[in-house]
Amino acid sequence: MSKRLKELHEEITQRLRGVVESPRREAELLLMGFLEKDILYFITHQEDMIDDNDPKLIEWIERRSANVPLEYLTNRVSFYSETFYIDEGALIPRPETEHLIDEIVARISSKEAITIVEVGVGSGIISIMLARHLPNARFIAVDISPKALAVARRNIELFNLTNRIELREGDLLSCVDEPIDLLVSNPPYIANDVSLESNLSYEPQNALFGGEIGDEIIRRLLDEVYARQIPMFVCEMGFDQRTKVQEYLKSFSVQSLEFYKDLASLDRGFILKI
Ligand SMILES: C[S@@+](CC[C@H](N)C(=O)[O-])C[C@H]1O[C@@H](n2cnc3c(N)ncnc32)[C@H](O)[C@@H]1O
Repeated sequence: MSKRLKELHEEITQRLRGVVESPRREAELLLMGFLEKDILYFITHQEDMIDDNDPKLIEWIERRSANVPLEYLTNRVSFYSETFYIDEGALIPRPETEHLIDEIVARISSKEAITIVEVGVGSGIISIMLARHLPNARFIAVDISPKALAVARRNIELFNLTNRIELREGDLLSCVDEPIDLLVSNPPYIANDVSLESNLSYEPQNALFGGEIGDEIIRRLLDEVYARQIPMFVCEMGFDQRTKVQEYLKSFSVQSLEFYKDLASLDRGFILKI
């Protein structure tokens, strides 16, 4: 059976009521994703007949009604004005991570031929965007999750960066012996006992939870920075982890430690030089 686009929009909106925050908008996004059309098309084709028995559409509506993030249905995610492949093997990139890239690009000249290591590459967005901004840098990108590495590999191929970003599977820096000029990470930093909104349950839990307190992986990375004398470390963190980072670094010698904020003016990360 077929239905007018506007009727289908209304029907999906009703299905999503009580599940997602903005059901009308979410229904619109789902339909645009399904039809592979933009908002202009959506507004101007409200009378178009759509096959509402399409198995893919039925599946998407069912999974979205169970609060599966739309990005995992469409296998597409926007980050830094680019479109990346995504699936349930990797964390959905968050807009606040764009700040981490800006902070690095503001400090490193595009001429520098340095080795940058990313820990926790996930979908690959950080290393890929940095590689595009810093054409002379070489990248080693690590993740403990083979599923995340498969997503990163796909995106690295999509952006033609296989010759510049080397992927490795391992725990933090265990698989990296080379000297590192810059370490970058958006590690898992949520405390294990924090209960999260239901849509987050579809994301890889080892991408979200950082330990009992939350900052355990950040502290392990700080230990690595000093053990290997990595001159610069740029790291995303939770909005409430600034004091913990400062406290932890009290026993180390620090050349400079700067914190940066996200658009909501919350502490979101730091740049450490040793
Ligand atoms: C918050 S996600 C970040 C993903 C991506 N870089 C981004 O910013 O969207 C953290 C990533 O760290 C990885 N991870 C967790 N523990 C790790 C460990 N001990 N060693 C290496 N990677 C780890 C997870 O698999 C996940 O892909």
